[in-house]
Amino acid sequence: MLTNTVLAVVAVLAQMHSAMAADSLYEKGSPILQITNKKQLNELINTSNHTSIVEFYAPWCGHCKNLKGDYEKAARSLAGMVNVAAVNCDETRELCSSMGVQGFPTLKIVRPSKTPGRKPVIEDYQGQRTAGSIVDSLTSQMNNHVVKVTDATLDAFLAANEGPKALLFTEKGTTAPTTKALATDFLGALSLGQVRSKEKVTVDKYGVTKFPALVLLPAGDDGKEPVVYDGKMKLKEMAAFLSQAAEPNKPVDINVAAPPKKAKADKEKKDKAEKKAEKKEGKADEEETATSSTPTEQQTAPVIVQSAIPIPTVHTPEKLQSSCLGEKSHTCVLAFISDNEANNNDKATQDVLDHLAELAHKNAQAKRATFPFYVVPASNEASALLLKALGLEEKTDQVHLVAVNARRGWWRHFEGDDLSFKTIESWFDAIRMGEGAKEKLPASLVVKAEVKEEPKEEAKTEAKEEEVKHEEL
Ligand SMILES: *[C@@H]1O[C@H](CO)[C@@H](O)[C@H](O)[C@H]1NC(C)=O
Ligand SMILES: *[C@@H]1O[C@H](CO)[C@@H](O)[C@H](O)[C@H]1NC(C)=O
Repeated sequence: MLTNTVLAVVAVLAQMHSAMAADSLYEKGSPILQITNKKQLNELINTSNHTSIVEFYAPWCGHCKNLKGDYEKAARSLAGMVNVAAVNCDETRELCSSMGVQGFPTLKIVRPSKTPGRKPVIEDYQGQRTAGSIVDSLTSQMNNHVVKVTDATLDAFLAANEGPKALLFTEKGTTAPTTKALATDFLGALSLGQVRSKEKVTVDKYGVTKFPALVLLPAGDDGKEPVVYDGKMKLKEMAAFLSQAAEPNKPVDINVAAPPKKAKADKEKKDKAEKKAEKKEGKADEEETATSSTPTEQQTAPVIVQSAIPIPTVHTPEKLQSSCLGEKSHTCVLAFISDNEANNNDKATQDVLDHLAELAHKNAQAKRATFPFYVVPASNEASALLLKALGLEEKTDQVHLVAVNARRGWWRHFEGDDLSFKTIESWFDAIRMGEGAKEKLPASLVVKAEVKEEPKEEAKTEAKEEEVKHEEL
């Protein structure tokens, strides 16, 4: 009987694969930059010269699902001009709480300082969640590194530095988003000036007869003639043209570098595991969590978390597998609840979930090493099967708290009826310190890592929707 149950769990779990991809709101071919770790967020926030918008979401949140279409539409429209990114907070809780995220979705706009090395300005996006509003707001918040050039200032512009330059001639008095993007792409490598059609001397000097026009002024005074561009006035094509004289900065390319659990991370874990193998179990546990959550690392500056974010819910068996039951999974704390939705419970259950959220929040505030907490609702097919396999009865009116470490093959159940914050915290602290007795986790519950290639989704990349208009040159 038990064996059958265990086999059934394994079957359900093994059936699905790669929960990361399955659970993310955005597919592989999506135009959204999908951020899965602090390093990538750092690249976006602290390195990129382009303005970014970052959505912090949970895959199960209804408003996030509603936003998806418009957000992707905005991303396609802003491609090459603004980084449009998303962070799955079910996967990277700490990253989200370090950014002060308190609800889903939270949209933050990151505007880099115009002075290199200075901190960016990070603000919540408060506008409407439609593609049009997002595009308007973001294009108006792009940094402008384009130099306005007039007949009177042309000589100064030309003399300002020795590097290559370009002049964009237009009838407009404003600077278009594509022009700003172009200047940012070549920041530090080429100066871009904008000349209005009424600046007759400059217009005549370069023989410009139609607008808009782009003229490249190669560097050096070795007699290189200005080159007039005659291609499409599109960002990509203009950048390719200018790159004959200067190398553009590399765009943020997170999706290419980001398969979440790939060889390198696995290797690091393996190395760590080998070192730890020599140490005593309890002590090693403590250290393992300390290194995996890097509590000493400085978290993103000015935002302060004011209240606890609810514990994420694990809705599917495969997500439970990838987070907590893989052969490499670290300690997880699971709250099995009888209701199907975490926010739809009786008071006793809700209290426990609140305590867990508070505990996670307290740990994060104290930058204390911790484990991920998850809610497992009865609607997750793996819930009943797992509880049975662990010899726990399904309770209709209460929560089962279980800590599990699949890598080390143990689990622990919270015993007793006193589910107050204090008792939960001391139960948790004991686990953190590696104190107290552990049960042996049936080996058959642990799912072996399976390396599977995702099918290519090129078709999706090419899928085009009606573009959201932004200001032309
Ligand atoms: C950005 O830089 C600041 C200060 O240098 C740092 O505290 C913060 O953690 C960085 N942000 C990210 C997401 O890495
Ligand atoms: C940002 O701009 C500076 C010049 O101000 C440049 O040196 C640097 O490479 C740019 N960074 C990126 C990531 O493009």
